[in-house]
Amino acid sequence: MAANWKMYKSIAEARAFVAEFRKLGPMGGVTVAICPPAIALEAVRSGLEGSGIIAGAQNAYFENEGAFTGEISVKQAREAGAGCVIIGHSERRRIFGEKDELLNLKLNACIREKLPPIFCIGETLEERESGKTEEVLLRQLCKGLDGIGADSMGGFVIAYEPVWAIGTGKNATPEQAQEAHAFVRKVLEKQKGAAAAAGTPILYGGSVKPENIDSLMKGPDLDGALVGGASLKAESFAAIVRGAAKARGV
Ligand code: PGA
Repeated sequence: MAANWKMYKSIAEARAFVAEFRKLGPMGGVTVAICPPAIALEAVRSGLEGSGIIAGAQNAYFENEGAFTGEISVKQAREAGAGCVIIGHSERRRIFGEKDELLNLKLNACIREKLPPIFCIGETLEERESGKTEEVLLRQLCKGLDGIGADSMGGFVIAYEPVWAIGTGKNATPEQAQEAHAFVRKVLEKQKGAAAAAGTPILYGGSVKPENIDSLMKGPDLDGALVGGASLKAESFAAIVRGAAKARGV
């Protein structure tokens, strides 16, 4: 279960969240990651020490260092304490023009630097309505994971995030989510083999809330969630994590 804070929270607010979240007690047998803005990564990492909760980055560049003003590298993110990094979020694709080929380079950098990526894919409303959902997911998976062998996929996480469900309050129905996740699993199996497909968690993202996590997590191919807006309040994110743990009996 991963929190994507996007460009929200000051360092002080991030610290306060972590302190409150830790007080809310055990979250069941669930792996939890919190991805703050990069400037709050160190504060979140140190605040989470000893909790088993991972601090993560929201984005990183593939070169280790160089004249890339404004960027941080996968290596720098790892050195700053990130235990995972979100790659290819739809806001990066749409607003910052990140293309599949760039994301492939970033994923390769994650392998090189041993920093597990949460690789985001998902269709727009227009693509869904014109029956292109599977085509889009297939393209994003093929190009993003191009040349990456099954033996390098350890630690990889895929996040299916339909763009029309992100920040809109309109989540995919559990059936729509399960259908897309099953398709992603099938593509992974075909491309990387059964072991890699079974061993790669697939998260759902898009308007996840405490009220819908239970029904979403009933889908057998849903392994967790990437949560934006509803992860900004400690109580709400804790309720989502607990809801997922309960739904999956862990
Ligand atoms: P949301 O965002 O939960 O606010 O819809 C999810 C995401 O963008 O990862």
